[in-house]
Amino acid sequence: MSEFIAIDGPAGSGKSSVSKAIARQRGYGLLDTGAAYRALAWYVLEQGADTDDVDAVLAAASDFDLRLGLDPDDRTVAVGDTDITTTIRESRVSGAVSGVARVPAVREQVNIFFRSLVANAAYPAVVVEGRDITTVVAPDAPVRILLTASPEVRAARRAGELTSENAADVAEALHKRDASDSAVVDFLNAADGVEVVDTTHLDFPQTIDAVLAVIDRKQGAE
Ligand code: DC
Repeated sequence: MSEFIAIDGPAGSGKSSVSKAIARQRGYGLLDTGAAYRALAWYVLEQGADTDDVDAVLAAASDFDLRLGLDPDDRTVAVGDTDITTTIRESRVSGAVSGVARVPAVREQVNIFFRSLVANAAYPAVVVEGRDITTVVAPDAPVRILLTASPEVRAARRAGELTSENAADVAEALHKRDASDSAVVDFLNAADGVEVVDTTHLDFPQTIDAVLAVIDRKQGAE
């Protein structure tokens, strides 16, 4: 039985790269829950269905053979035999994912999948990153962290990752996704007992140090 290290935060907060670095450094597993929602959005689009059609999304979620591992050095995402690791990062998927993520019955199903992956993991702990991990998926986790950063800094980080899209478009897309995502789960404010790490003025190594300090303090307090 692995322990959850729950890390939530919005797009561009540094959550994915920080979670990966910490998992590698500590020998923990890594679960990118956003990848599961992205894979489901891809699957619905692939079937020619509309991601705003709740029945189509539910039907897709129930016959969805998602392969998502916990190895921080192997971030492969597949549905059946189709490798969609890079496809799920395309803007057509990013634009569609909020539609599938807002269906409560889908979230319940996906959460059961996440909890069973962690329960059966061969790691002492799994860094689980997402939007509702600290509040819904693992509210009793010993370590719960919310990574934040100002909207300007988050947009600039995203624009740096996406060379083909201009900064204004990225800021606009990020703003839209924040608005639709936070209508589903509130990941912009920390719940009780969740530690906030604001990365606005931190570089990558400083962010890692700040997150590791919280993990060490919380694990020491167990
Ligand atoms: O972290 P990301 O950008 O890859 O997440 C993709 C989408 O999935 C995002 O729009 C919000 C949604 N999501 C969610 O609703 N709950 C999670 N635990 C993780 C992601």
